[in-house]
Amino acid sequence: MQIGVPAETLAEEKRVATVPDVVEKIIKLGFRVAIESGAGDAAHFSDDAYRCAGAEVLPDAATLWARSDIVLKVRPPTSEEVALMRDGGTLIGFVWPAQHPELMQQLAAKKTTVLAIDCLPRTLSRAQKMDALTSTAGVSGYRAVIEAANAFGRFFNGQITAAGKVPPAKVFIAGAGVAGLAAIGTAANLGAIVRANDTRAEVADQVKSLGGEFVKVDYEEEGSGGGGYAKVMSEGFQAAQRKMYAEQARDADIIITTALIPGKPAPKLITAEMVQSMKPGSVIVDMAGEQGGNCELTVPGEAVVRHGVTIIGYTDLASRLARQSSTLYATNLLRLLEELCKAKDGVALVNMDDDAIRGLTVIKEGEITWPAPPLQQAPKPAPKAAAAPVAEKKSAHGAGAPMSGRALGIVFAVLAVLFWAIGAYAPAAFLGHFTVFVLACFIGYMVVWNVTPALHTPLMSVTNAISSIIAIGALIQIAPPGAGTDGRPDTLILWLAFAALVLTGVNMFGGFAVTRRMLAMFRK
Ligand code: NAI
Repeated sequence: MQIGVPAETLAEEKRVATVPDVVEKIIKLGFRVAIESGAGDAAHFSDDAYRCAGAEVLPDAATLWARSDIVLKVRPPTSEEVALMRDGGTLIGFVWPAQHPELMQQLAAKKTTVLAIDCLPRTLSRAQKMDALTSTAGVSGYRAVIEAANAFGRFFNGQITAAGKVPPAKVFIAGAGVAGLAAIGTAANLGAIVRANDTRAEVADQVKSLGGEFVKVDYEEEGSGGGGYAKVMSEGFQAAQRKMYAEQARDADIIITTALIPGKPAPKLITAEMVQSMKPGSVIVDMAGEQGGNCELTVPGEAVVRHGVTIIGYTDLASRLARQSSTLYATNLLRLLEELCKAKDGVALVNMDDDAIRGLTVIKEGEITWPAPPLQQAPKPAPKAAAAPVAEKKSAHGAGAPMSGRALGIVFAVLAVLFWAIGAYAPAAFLGHFTVFVLACFIGYMVVWNVTPALHTPLMSVTNAISSIIAIGALIQIAPPGAGTDGRPDTLILWLAFAALVLTGVNMFGGFAVTRRMLAMFRK
């Protein structure tokens, strides 16, 4: 099949749906690839680079659309582009079907198949490699901080110089989803004091792990609306949130807003009075501009100055890092093509029994299949103690269910009898080993359970490295006590001990190296 990549037609769009490195991989799947001349120019991918990767460069969009069985795009197609599309062809890209009902009708009338990458069920872990919303939001969050830094007249980090003391910038992030977390990490790395808020309490740990401080709204209400997304909050919550945001606005130098609720206008979080209360020279970057904005004074697509505060409402943040975001997006689409063409024979098959493919297929051969039926979710884990009802289920003794006092007493009694029996009857040599074993279990339990879950992976690698104590055993085998006086150790044992020493050396030094690298990710 022929895959075609046209140039994006929207004026400010600099991205392109595939990049030369990815073209090579698409060709390995058995497809032919064609690209419109100049499609990658704005993202700094030349026609020659595509040619070298094996793509055919076509002179104009009309030829490209007419010859392609599958078209890869970034932005939803215009009606002119749909007119150029081949009847029964396939389109892959951002479509936003809820916002574009007319486009959906036009595409259906041409008997096309449309895979809307924005409709991918994101909570499916198998689908994460295709999640273009996440990769785009990550780039946008980073760029939002860079735009803020550009408009802000000071350093982000605090400095003490001969010319005076510079306080660190204070950055407040509203909404800690994918874009918000990327912004927190970037601002914290630049040295700012970062605070963030979200209606979903579960993101508090993620905010902390990136170097931010989570600021809670003084009102108890669960903000999750399902699928990892937020819901519209009650009036009471909104009032309490406005009070907290007003305090933050007075204190912060930079506010970056990312709050969105699927299918709803962006919640208005920053009022005109809050803008007025900010210090002159402060900056607001409103990433929700396309959905109406989180700030009352945002002008979508523009940077404006109101009450001495620069309010940036750009809607093309990902496109402002076109080379990076095109590469990530192209890789997401490559992963999707791999799912569609498992046989690597250059034929794409849209398997509607596959949850991920079903979710993003919004039109199948002219029939509108959007919205997809909700996914069968795995049962939710039991709520945490604070939220759990007081009455406990008597039968709940599964993993994680707290034991009743009586059951705990029985377990202790059985263990005590067991230990007494072992102490009374086991041979003395066994008793020594057994004591060490019991102590090791106890220390292991205390170490693992008292360490934040986010640090379990580095903990595992360091304990793995420490377990290389086995090296001592191997050393003893190579040079056993007494060797050299009345005889050399067996050659086979010598070689086995040597191999054990080499392997355990890798384990030991590798373990410490991995731990160092992982811990470095948690440091500022
Ligand atoms: P989004 O772009 O729809 O929303 C951004 C953030 O705004 C969300 O964190 C939301 O809770 C927050 N928000 C909404 N209303 C707010 C308000 N009134 N005040 C403060 N904050 C408000 O969401 P995004 O970033 O696309 O994804 C959100 C979440 O979805 C992720 O954090 C994650 O939990 C989940 N997700 C899961 C994935 C997976 O399991 N593979 C992949 C991607 C996302």
